[in-house]
Amino acid sequence: MRGRLAGVGFGGDYNPEQWGPATHAEDIALMREANVSLVTLGIFAWARAEPTPGAYDFTWLDAHLDRLAEAGVAVCLATMTASPPPWLARLHPETLPELADGTRLYPGSRQHWCPSSPVFRRHAVRLVERLATRYADHPALALWHIGNEYGCHISRHCHCPVSTAAFRTWLRARYGTLQALNDAWSTAFWSQHYAAWDEIHTPRTAPSFRNPAQRADYERFSSDELLACYLAEKRVLARLTPHTPVTTNFVPIAKTLDLFAWAPHLDVIAYDSYPDPHDPDAAQRAAFSYDVMRGLKGGRPWLLLEQAPSAVNWRRHNGRKPPGRMRLDSWQAVAHGADAVLFFQWRQSRGGAEKFHSAMVPHAGPDTRIFREVRDLGAELAARPELLGSVPERADAALLLDWPAWWAVETDAHPSEIDYLKGALAYHRALYAASVACDVVPADGDLGAYRLLLVPHLYAVSRAAADRVTAYVRDGGTLVMSYFSGITDEHDRVYLGGYPGPFREVLGLTVEEFDPRPDGSWAEVIRLEGAESVRDFADGSPAVTRHAYGRGTAWYVGCDLGAEELRGLLDRVRRECGVRPVEAGLPEGVQVRARVTAAGERLRVRLDHRDGSVSVERDGPRGATG
Ligand code: GAL
Repeated sequence: MRGRLAGVGFGGDYNPEQWGPATHAEDIALMREANVSLVTLGIFAWARAEPTPGAYDFTWLDAHLDRLAEAGVAVCLATMTASPPPWLARLHPETLPELADGTRLYPGSRQHWCPSSPVFRRHAVRLVERLATRYADHPALALWHIGNEYGCHISRHCHCPVSTAAFRTWLRARYGTLQALNDAWSTAFWSQHYAAWDEIHTPRTAPSFRNPAQRADYERFSSDELLACYLAEKRVLARLTPHTPVTTNFVPIAKTLDLFAWAPHLDVIAYDSYPDPHDPDAAQRAAFSYDVMRGLKGGRPWLLLEQAPSAVNWRRHNGRKPPGRMRLDSWQAVAHGADAVLFFQWRQSRGGAEKFHSAMVPHAGPDTRIFREVRDLGAELAARPELLGSVPERADAALLLDWPAWWAVETDAHPSEIDYLKGALAYHRALYAASVACDVVPADGDLGAYRLLLVPHLYAVSRAAADRVTAYVRDGGTLVMSYFSGITDEHDRVYLGGYPGPFREVLGLTVEEFDPRPDGSWAEVIRLEGAESVRDFADGSPAVTRHAYGRGTAWYVGCDLGAEELRGLLDRVRRECGVRPVEAGLPEGVQVRARVTAAGERLRVRLDHRDGSVSVERDGPRGATG
């Protein structure tokens, strides 16, 4: 794709099927004016491309691709399979998804398909074959865009008979025998022992708590089923257009998909980001999600495939982005590794459910603040060709994120409710507030590359993954682990002998009891076994501990610390292990992140979240410890 772009890609979702020829002509003129270099085309155009089963019409698409090529705009071409035409449900009602309580979801919105449906997959693959054959050599084609936001809306959890059968097949492949499944799911409990595969269901609405291991497996299965849909299309593209990279846009960080399992199957990572202009923590949340995107391919740049130029339409109150905010948000993404800045969508829809969602060209037309800001940003990015080929600077600190642990820690009947993402964000925020860059790594990532490793709520963990974290500390790393980590194995079976089983040695302690407080804050009873307490609960028992282990140090946080206290703790920890801010002395609200150009130059992007200003500067000495 890089060959088709002269710099950071700039543009948006282009849905010309909603408009007529006069508008199409104006679109191209305005795209030129705004320095648009990349558009995503045809995401929800299946019904237009195949209005009746097997009767394809691509003439309209030919014309758009030709026009875009002529205007020098590269195309990220959608495979159009995000939302099937209504005829699929008419001919094959069994492709409609079903909720846990048996409710069926009907056409009339979007993404109404069962991920396990072979019928849906067959029709999708047939369409992709046509598209790939027709456009493989089109000069506008830069990138394929499979589906859209897998896991958003229903196409994640389906409980229909087809999905139930697929779940059983998936379980057979995972466990081989019923005995192994019964063992892994602890079915001796509550008379749940299975004597035949077809006794097993997806975790549907049930009288009381559902089996937690079954639920965690169902999350895995659901992520895998969607991945199988993606891969069915990807295989077609790899066969017919092997030289064009393939991606899909990930939905704002959620527990739906195990992104580390998906990442190897994308040629480039793509992400949709919708920071809430009314949320004071929006910038940090965005920074976190961008750090995750970068982490999915070990630090490589990624594409911001969607963001809103101003307001969205799907929150209860949809505030606009004030002047300058869209530019700041865009540069933030670039600073954290984005190689493209795209929007949903190019032109604001006249009808349909998203007509009040902002767009690059608003209802009022180009003589508007939004379009002027879009045009200015397009010009500004075009004037920075050196960004292309640059890579985000590697951080000294990393946060370990793990989807299976996320799924398991949020099942019910635990000592208290834990919000995994909230925990991860809190630890990331404590570094962010100190202007410290943070990478995000999977449990099997390259931990040794970091001086500091943050591990929030790693509740379910395999023995092998726990050993890697232990070895990281033994070899000189500094670990900060938060409570309710190392509690169960990958099948949600508790490690016996004291919590947190596989981390007791490295942390130098045993947790004997959990004792969450009525306000929901966490507390527990910690017995020191080598660690020292650095902060006590009100009753004088240890709450936060430090343990020298091998050549490294392991900190344990057995309680909820407020933002300030957590920040103070992590400031102390990182001073000890030599993790510095990206730049010293930055005022609160100002962030700097750096990219290193192909020529080895350091580009520092300075984001001032107080007044919305941005500056991009070449190199400068690295700040002292702050
Ligand atoms: C995304 C979706 C787009 C559009 C956008 C609106 O989730 O991929 O198609 O609906 O939200 O914010």
